[in-house]
Amino acid sequence: MSSAGEAYFKWYYDTGVWKGVQYRGVRTLKSVADMWSYQEIIHDLDVQWIIETGTRHGGSALYFADLLTLRGARGKVVSIDVDAESNWVGEHPKIEFLYGDSAAPDMVRLVESMLVEPRGRLFVILDSDHSRDHVLRELRAYVPLMRSGDYLVVEDTCINGHPVRPEFGPGPWEAVDEFLAECPGLLRHDVGREAKFGFTCAPRGFFVKA
Ligand SMILES: C[S@@+](CC[C@H](N)C(=O)[O-])C[C@H]1O[C@@H](n2cnc3c(N)ncnc32)[C@H](O)[C@@H]1O
Repeated sequence: MSSAGEAYFKWYYDTGVWKGVQYRGVRTLKSVADMWSYQEIIHDLDVQWIIETGTRHGGSALYFADLLTLRGARGKVVSIDVDAESNWVGEHPKIEFLYGDSAAPDMVRLVESMLVEPRGRLFVILDSDHSRDHVLRELRAYVPLMRSGDYLVVEDTCINGHPVRPEFGPGPWEAVDEFLAECPGLLRHDVGREAKFGFTCAPRGFFVKA
């Protein structure tokens, strides 16, 4: 991020603007610039299926589902959260809400079984428990489901001082570090999309599977 982008991002994050973002009246805890990037990814890559770990209020799932619907995608958004209580309770024909630990082997097998062939392009967005260990479990579980050309965003790599919340401790950024060291060459860092709007909640978090 440039110094101007970083200053804007710190304002956006530290004042809690991200907590007030809504899509069609449902909260979504995101950078609005990232949401626009995701819309471009879904269009440009002709995304058919989306796996989202971390539903929370459900605004992001609703946004993704509307985009898939508008594109006539054959797939759905599979949105997973360990806590059913905190989620939006609405329904959408393009969303499958699953409840449980996103990285549990049974959950990953269930998600894999839902990706009906020919499944087309998959977009995976990791946005659940932001501890390094959990994100690393998710990377080890979901990257193997991805095929060459599928897209991955690891959200909130910005925490633990990259550049916000320096007190957090090892988080998504450190999980990415460890995974890239474990599997060199498996993921290509998409610097162009990540930098396009000048700030992101996912610095070093945008990847294409090689
Ligand atoms: C940052 S919020 C998700 C925000 C949402 N994607 C959005 O953009 O609005 C993180 C969510 O992850 C969930 N979560 C925490 N640990 C989890 C786990 N092990 N498996 C699945 N979800 C988990 C929390 O309950 C919380 O709702």
